[in-house]
Amino acid sequence: MRIIATADLHYDIARSRGPTLRLAEEVCDLDADVLLLLGDVAGRDPEVTLECLHLFDRFRGRKFFVAGNHDIWIDPGGDSVRRLEEDLPAVCRAADFQALDAEPAVLGSVGIVGSIGWYDFSFRPARLGIPLRFYREKIAPGAAARLPAYQYLVEDRSDIPEHAFQIGTRWMDGEHARLLMSDLDFCHRLLGRLEDHLARVERKAERVFVGLHHLPLWRMVPYTERPSWAFASAFLGSELFGEILLDHPQVRYAVCGHSHKPDRFSHAHFECVNVGCTYLAKRYEIIEL
Ligand SMILES: [Fe+2]
Ligand SMILES: [Fe+2]
Repeated sequence: MRIIATADLHYDIARSRGPTLRLAEEVCDLDADVLLLLGDVAGRDPEVTLECLHLFDRFRGRKFFVAGNHDIWIDPGGDSVRRLEEDLPAVCRAADFQALDAEPAVLGSVGIVGSIGWYDFSFRPARLGIPLRFYREKIAPGAAARLPAYQYLVEDRSDIPEHAFQIGTRWMDGEHARLLMSDLDFCHRLLGRLEDHLARVERKAERVFVGLHHLPLWRMVPYTERPSWAFASAFLGSELFGEILLDHPQVRYAVCGHSHKPDRFSHAHFECVNVGCTYLAKRYEIIEL
């Protein structure tokens, strides 16, 4: 089985649009059985997501979608979990895609499973010494100190290292993704579903391909000296997802996106791949399974 996987098309962002159109043309000309789009497809507007999915109408194989954090950004008052679990699967059906977050698939002897993945802040770098409350609010001390709404985070400065006030990073899921539950509870909701989907496909499949948006292993987190980027490492993924994959020997591939940095290595019984599209340079992986 020939599988094409890409991620982070960000079709809603102007500078990503041309590169996505070119990638879609190229992919549609390829001979492959499966296409997977692994998150950050087109952002908050389902109409734009639908438009992006239709770019792959000419693709001759089965088409699968995994959501990314940008795909569950939502307007004030909205519900990102409903977007993930109900709205996006419906958008996918309208464009002949299947949303793997909702339902896995078995094609011959291959199982196809997917999850947006998420973060539990365990990838936060200890060397920054920033207290957990800043990660929970997705804002670094330098940004919190400037914004009136976040003064409660910096009222007691005794546990905040001075250098941290130079870090002005905000992880914008904090503003635009409305989970209506904690990030950890969301992780566990996703982990339960991933476990269930793996168990379901393994009854019929010899080999399993897992597509995620967030990184399932700490080893995949790109190292950076820059404190602003190091703060953002906390939001790249969670090892809890990798641990589930370790428990399932039929998993052969775990492919993700999100960090925008290509990566590939073998881990236990499976191969880990990060597709590594940037906003300007789109790429895809061809995997034989
Ligand atoms: Fe992205
Ligand atoms: Fe992302």
